[in-house]
Amino acid sequence: MSTQPIPTTSIESRKKVTTRTLRLKKRRAEPITMLTAYDYATALAVDKAGIDSILVGDSLGMVVLGYENTLPVTMEDMLHHCKAVARGAKTALLVGDMPFMSYQVSVKQAVRNAGRFLQEAGMDAVKLEGGRERADAIRAITSAGIPVMGHLGLTPQSVHQLGGFRAQAKEAAAAKTLLEDALILQDAGCFAIVLEAIPARLAELVSKQLDIPTIGIGAGVGCDGQVLVTHDLLGLFDRFTPSFVKKYANLHEVMFDAIAAYKDDVDRQLFPASEHTTDMKDDAWEAFVRMLD
Ligand code: KIV
Repeated sequence: MSTQPIPTTSIESRKKVTTRTLRLKKRRAEPITMLTAYDYATALAVDKAGIDSILVGDSLGMVVLGYENTLPVTMEDMLHHCKAVARGAKTALLVGDMPFMSYQVSVKQAVRNAGRFLQEAGMDAVKLEGGRERADAIRAITSAGIPVMGHLGLTPQSVHQLGGFRAQAKEAAAAKTLLEDALILQDAGCFAIVLEAIPARLAELVSKQLDIPTIGIGAGVGCDGQVLVTHDLLGLFDRFTPSFVKKYANLHEVMFDAIAAYKDDVDRQLFPASEHTTDMKDDAWEAFVRMLD
C-alpha cells in the first residue's frame, strides 16, 4: 500500500455529481467510483475523498445492524441512515437503497416509497433489485421524476431464492437472461445498473451493450464503475469478507486495540490524566468548603 498522501480535489471546487455526470463519465471512459455509507462521519470522509456516488445500501442491515441478511431492513431504518448521510455529503450523488418489500407489492407502493427517499431523506436517486419483473415499477418511479439505479446478478434480497450469496449468470442461458434484463432496465428508464458477482467477461459485454453506466461489485474491471461496501474495504466487518473485496485497512483490529488500551488505562487509573481534567481555582474551592461548614 502506498504511503504517499493521495491528493483530493478541494471540496469547494467540486460540483455536485448528478446522473448526467455519470453518463458523461461513461462516454469519456472515465471510471465511476461509488462506496456505501450509512452515517454522517463516513459520508463526510467518502465525499471529501471525491467519490462520485454514495450508496446508502441495505447492506447496513448486515454490517451495521448485525442481521444475517438484508431482509429485515425496513423503510424507517433506511430513511434514518439516509438522513445522516445527506447531512454529511454535499457533492456525491446520493442513492438510497429500497429495502425488501418496499417496491415488490405494488407499483403504487413502489412510487410512494421511492418518493420518501427524496422528499424526507435528502437522497438524489433510489436503487432497487431485479430484472424484467421490476420494469413496471421502474417506469412508474422514473415517470415521477425519481432516478432509478437497477441491480442485477447477485441480488441479496433474493438470497433464499438464489440458494445463498453466490455468483450468478455463470451458465449460457442465465448470462443471456441477464443481458436481456439489463437492456429492459435501460429501456424502463434506469440511469445506471449495479452488476454484482457475475463473470467479468459477461459484465464487460453488458457494459459495452448499454448506453447507461454499469457499476460492478465482484464483476471485474470491464464495468464503467466500481462499488464496494465501505465496511468491507476498511476491514470493519469481522464476520466474513467476500473474495472480490480488497481490504484497504483493518479497522476492526485498530478499533479493538484502541478500546483495549482505554480499558487498560482506566483499570490502572492512567486515564483521565491532568490534561483531560477540569480544575477549580483554590479560592473558589476554599469558598465552597467554607459553605459546607
Ligand atoms: O446494499 C448494498 O450495499 C448494495 C451494494 C453491495 C451494491 O446493494
